Amino acid sequence: MTSKEIRQSFLDYFKDKQHRIVPSAPVIPHGDPTLLFINAGMNQFKDVFLGSGKRDYTRAADTQKCIRVSGKHNDLEEVGVDTYHHTFFEMLGNWSFGDYYKAEAIAWAWQLLTEVWSLDKNRLFATVYRTDDESYDLWKNYLPEDRIQRHGEKDNFWEMGETGPCGPCSEIHYDRTPDNSGASLVNADSPDVIEIWNLVFIQYNRKPDGSLEDLAAKHVDTGMGFERICAVIQGKNSNYDTDVFMPVIDKIVELSGKKYSGDLNDPDGIAMRVIADHVRTLAFAIADGAVPGNEGRGYVLRRILRRGSRFARNLGFNEPVIYKLLPVLLDIMGDVFPELIKQKATIERVVKGEEESFLKTLGRGIEKFEALAESIESNSNIKSNTKDNEQLIIPGADAFLLYDTFGFPLDLTGLLAREKGFAVDTAGFEERMNKQKERSRKARKVTSQEAETIDFGGSSEFTCYDNFTEEAEVLFVKDNLMVPDKTPFYAESGGQASDTGILTLAGETYIITDVKKSGDAIIHVCDRSVEPLVGSAALLKVDIKRRRAIMRSHSATHLFHEALRQVLGGHIQQAGSYVGPDYLRFDFNHFEALSPQQIESIEAMVNEKIFEAVEVVTTILSLEDARKNDNIRMFFGDKYGDTVRAVAMDDSFSIELCGGTHVANTSRIGLFKITGESSIAAGVRRIEAVTGEGIEKYIYGLQAAINKQNNESNDLNEKIRKLEKELASYKVEEAASSLTKILSHAKIIDKAPVDKTGFDSITIATGQVEAEDADTLRSIAENLRNKLKSQGIGLLAAVNGEKVQLVCVVTDDLKNKLPAGKLVGSAARILGGGGGGKPHMATAGARDISALGDLLKYKFESIVREMLD
Ligand code: ALA
Repeated sequence: MTSKEIRQSFLDYFKDKQHRIVPSAPVIPHGDPTLLFINAGMNQFKDVFLGSGKRDYTRAADTQKCIRVSGKHNDLEEVGVDTYHHTFFEMLGNWSFGDYYKAEAIAWAWQLLTEVWSLDKNRLFATVYRTDDESYDLWKNYLPEDRIQRHGEKDNFWEMGETGPCGPCSEIHYDRTPDNSGASLVNADSPDVIEIWNLVFIQYNRKPDGSLEDLAAKHVDTGMGFERICAVIQGKNSNYDTDVFMPVIDKIVELSGKKYSGDLNDPDGIAMRVIADHVRTLAFAIADGAVPGNEGRGYVLRRILRRGSRFARNLGFNEPVIYKLLPVLLDIMGDVFPELIKQKATIERVVKGEEESFLKTLGRGIEKFEALAESIESNSNIKSNTKDNEQLIIPGADAFLLYDTFGFPLDLTGLLAREKGFAVDTAGFEERMNKQKERSRKARKVTSQEAETIDFGGSSEFTCYDNFTEEAEVLFVKDNLMVPDKTPFYAESGGQASDTGILTLAGETYIITDVKKSGDAIIHVCDRSVEPLVGSAALLKVDIKRRRAIMRSHSATHLFHEALRQVLGGHIQQAGSYVGPDYLRFDFNHFEALSPQQIESIEAMVNEKIFEAVEVVTTILSLEDARKNDNIRMFFGDKYGDTVRAVAMDDSFSIELCGGTHVANTSRIGLFKITGESSIAAGVRRIEAVTGEGIEKYIYGLQAAINKQNNESNDLNEKIRKLEKELASYKVEEAASSLTKILSHAKIIDKAPVDKTGFDSITIATGQVEAEDADTLRSIAENLRNKLKSQGIGLLAAVNGEKVQLVCVVTDDLKNKLPAGKLVGSAARILGGGGGGKPHMATAGARDISALGDLLKYKFESIVREMLD
């Protein structure tokens, strides 16, 4: 029989006995934090045994993928060295949930082995738990008493782990000794007499305090090593000689150019068996969503891979090789476990990548180890490999150096040490390891960008468009990254910013600073390293206030998009967007800047929809139906699935396909205001806008800007007033000094025609002064009149641009005889202008600046003289 036929005949046999044939559970136990890997067929029924879960059948059978490399069931050291232990194996199993019990379990096992598979009855032994007379008596129906043995807890009381379902068991062993003399080799770790099937009679629950509790019902849980039964049926002494492994070993032979002898002591044979075993563990674990890493399950896989790499090196491989075996493995197992085929690319990439990275240090690490071993040996008088009680020891510090610098897992160093007859100071290693863990726990942080590139496999569901809290199960943890099975956290997509919030896990609170998508996994980036409690319940709480702001931005973006098209035209295509808690940004193609009127119209249109308080309706529909509806806006170039989500705000206004989060009613947006319009590239414009709280901030911002401006202009006014004062006093000074000058040049007429007037003399002062306006000029003239006191006449001119202004003053004693109005009129006429005023002071304006010099020099004097005549 081929292995495929054997597997199938097992399932068919139990199907005939009314068993439901169920699929293997994933080898990664997503729901059970007490387990790193599925290690027995019954794991997926733990809840049924404990009474907390139910199935709609009471009998089941399957082949279960199992990994045993850690915890209670750990066979790693034997793997490859012997011929019948594996890190990964299939467990064929049949179960009774409170249905049949010992009699049927034993009868059917016997019938399948001896009748269906025709195993030699004389080569079978049965064992029972030392006090289990019932099973002993049942076996007497099939076997002579010298082939039934009683054993103790170690062999005949099966437990899943430190806690959980358990009970006495009865095992069936197969004797391969040539002369059928294996009675004493039962349970003696001999390849000649191996256990092939374990029938467990589950009737207790082991509690954390170590006590046993009776279960409500009695159950049967059996497990048969598939690879072992294949070897037995196919008449092979080694599991590796069956068709389950041989094609893989053949491939290694082909790639390495070395022979596989099957001789247990041949180092090449050991290496080939190790690799043929380990590739299966890696492939199945990765297919079910695990990845090599530095902690927990990930580190188990890394250890396995590195162990495999080291043996590959022994075969002469200096390049990655394990990944090259995957196609053969898929040929053998892909039809039974299609996940291997589905995940082929991921498995290959991950395995090859891990091999590559370890090969960078493996060679140097081995050299380091060799040098170390040599120096320890030469400094000691104990000889290695002497099998003395006294052993040479690799110090913990060196084992840690190999780990830390060369990536050697402790068990790899242990393996190298064992091969030389050395031991390793594991306690010393652990001590350093714990210290380092503590240090890096505090330090290591993966950035959001890095997070996106990590391949977690597995998938998380985004559950909550308007509910912000979720209790989820932790699927993966790596440093400060956590992936749950479901989450209310929105991961950045379609321009919408990621949520932030809080994760509570095992009483610890972490801040979720970012959320990223990697494949179907939603990665929560935390503020610090997360305890790797895979399978535990995590409480996820979104920062609601922030999310609401994001929803306002997103819904406003839809309204804005439509308004933009209505105002600017249908040519508008979205070229990018950002929808954040603080503001929104929308890039689109348009050939010119938006006018203030266009911006106002768009704002008004959006705000109208907000004030109308329109319900926001989301609908899930098929892509095909969406395509048929012309009102639905789709984005050219976007990828859509078969079903899409349409977000409608007032059906006649905006319907867009969108996976983002939105307010329930447009009124929640509050208000919409465009805050910026610019060009980011030729033909691409950018609009920035705010909503809700953003408006409040915007108004406060404006207010602050106005206040600042007010303060600045107050300061400026103050400065101006100061300057004006300075200027005024300067002008007064200036005027005073020009008056002094004018007076010093004044003419005094003391002969004819003054003598006729009764005065002894008249002073005539003329001159040009700086005065911007008539008032200034008048006040300077007033000053002059005061200085003249009596018997004086003054004429002042000020030129401003094209105009000349004149003012004439006459002292009181002269003003009736020589009125200023008359004098200034005559003077102005000479300059082509005119004017008049009171007798003591009068002004005039004129344009002919060219005649001003003569007027002041002598013509005014003539005018006075004429008037005296
Ligand atoms: N659960 C039993 C075992 O793993 C059958 O051996």
